[in-house]
Amino acid sequence: AVPVFASNGKSEMVNVAHRGASGHAPENTMAAFEKAFEMKADFIEIDVQMTRDGRLVAIHDTTVNRTTNGNGFVGDYTLEEIQQLDAGSWFGEEFAGERVPTFEEIIDEYRGKIGILIELKSPELYPGMEEKVAEALIERNMHKPSNGKIIIQSFNHESVQLSKQLLPNIPHGVLAGLTWADVTDEQLAQFATYADFFNPNMNIVTEDLVDRVHLAGMEIYAYTVRTQEQADNLFELEVDGIITDFPEYVYRHPVKN
Ligand code: G3P
Ligand code: CA
Repeated sequence: AVPVFASNGKSEMVNVAHRGASGHAPENTMAAFEKAFEMKADFIEIDVQMTRDGRLVAIHDTTVNRTTNGNGFVGDYTLEEIQQLDAGSWFGEEFAGERVPTFEEIIDEYRGKIGILIELKSPELYPGMEEKVAEALIERNMHKPSNGKIIIQSFNHESVQLSKQLLPNIPHGVLAGLTWADVTDEQLAQFATYADFFNPNMNIVTEDLVDRVHLAGMEIYAYTVRTQEQADNLFELEVDGIITDFPEYVYRHPVKN
């Protein structure tokens, strides 16, 4: 059969823009989130950490060195200090002046417009971070059984468990790096006691893994896609979603009617 490729910005696979559309704009900035929204991604993925004065901000590395014009640990900056940094110029001069956004400004701007996949990044460095995320969502009434457009995930599985206790109606995911290539059915069943997603590095995804995650009752979104070929392979393996720097790679895939 001739595949029918989606031309309407919809795909069978959920399209998650990794750190925003970070192939096109500086990661974890409003510019990258806006680009993802314009590109009709289903979700933006954001990396949440905490400043010295206990404010939630979106930035990936535990230092500001790579993605801003500053130096040092995120947790050593106050919000006011970190927001004086330029988080855009490293990617391109046209992005000069992009700031490190707060978690609250992101959810206020994008709730109801695009899904938000919240990664609790290095939560072991930031005691109380799960509670702060939960408070921000509860204050905005975003913690109710919803349309599934908010998901919380982390590589720190204890943090996922704690967050799930605080926000039982929000879907949660465990992130799984390369060391989880041989994850057993028992481990998947254990994850499924608190998680709704098993989100692995794409290099450990096999048909068998996809089947076993589904049998355990979870969904599977694979990270981080940076080429069309990688998106095509994951589509063949029937993952539920891909987390990609380039949301456009998802749209080549057939939408079954
Ligand atoms: O969403 C999954 C992916 O973002 C995990 O890796 O290092 O890009 O946060 P990383
Ligand atoms: Ca991430």
